Amino acid sequence: MGEQLESQMSDEKLIELILELKKQRNAIILAHNYQDPSMFKIADFVGDSLGLSRKAMETSADVILFCGVKFMAETAKILNPAKKVLLPSFAAGCSLADMATVEQLAEVKAKHPHAAVVSYVNTNADIKAMSDMCCTSSNAVDVVNAVGGQEEIFLPDKNLGRYVQSKTDKKIILWDGHCFVHDKLDAETLRRVKLEHPGAKVIAHPEAKSEILAEADHVCGTGGMASFANSNGNSDFIVVTECGMTSRLQEELPEKNFYSFCNVCPFMKSNSLRLVARSLMLMQHEIELDAQVMVKARRALDRMMGIKVSLEK
Ligand code: 13P
Ligand code: SF4
Repeated sequence: MGEQLESQMSDEKLIELILELKKQRNAIILAHNYQDPSMFKIADFVGDSLGLSRKAMETSADVILFCGVKFMAETAKILNPAKKVLLPSFAAGCSLADMATVEQLAEVKAKHPHAAVVSYVNTNADIKAMSDMCCTSSNAVDVVNAVGGQEEIFLPDKNLGRYVQSKTDKKIILWDGHCFVHDKLDAETLRRVKLEHPGAKVIAHPEAKSEILAEADHVCGTGGMASFANSNGNSDFIVVTECGMTSRLQEELPEKNFYSFCNVCPFMKSNSLRLVARSLMLMQHEIELDAQVMVKARRALDRMMGIKVSLEK
């Protein structure tokens, strides 16, 4: 089917086509919470970085199509290397992940030879390969506490690093990286949003600055937001993260009210139904990684998945 034909197809037709291709390819579609809601109609699982990694590790499908960004698709490939992993959009990078390079990490490691390295999953595969353990927004504090030693290099997000530092006695060596989607949000504007919704509880992602987290009633990754809102007696919530999360929460909990204080992530939103259909049709763009990098990165991810694994350096 030609590019022109797909671009003329309605969303309903594209969804039908994707569901058919999914069967033919024996594919599973994993979608991150920040994706456009149209992706949720074709996804087998929608969730946060940790949940998606678990699904990628467990699946018996032949193909994993990732509606998310590149570091997530790479993580899926590392955790299940026998599978074909597809990323529909070429533009789905992550500027935060690109803020840590192998050369920079080697330099920081040389300055702190006794420090362990904890890398957020929002890193490229070669950084994971140089790390002792990976973490996500939902388990960062547990991971930092589980890693041996008293000093840890935490990269690449300084806001998440500062948040972790506020919850642990370990010495965290911060990295000068940030997610611009979260880092642009400021406390003064948030206070104005709070005045517009008196009584609403604020739920904030830990990639936001500490001045924002200080205003929040609850800090958690995207996976913890629905469970907090569900179990909390309040009916109104201000959601401080990428804008897609508000509609996701509203769909999951229609009896509650969610208001946004957010920015859009252009990388997450570069995906579309048309690109997913093309991806399954042409089996593009396949994630391919160096075998050595995969083996080393796998160690850091496995340690995160089962924190009990021993950590001799
Ligand atoms: P979560 O792990 O909370 O889903 O976040 C992923 C992400 O990219 C946040 O910007
Ligand atoms: Fe990367 Fe930030 Fe977008 Fe998440 S929201 S994918 S960290 S740029």
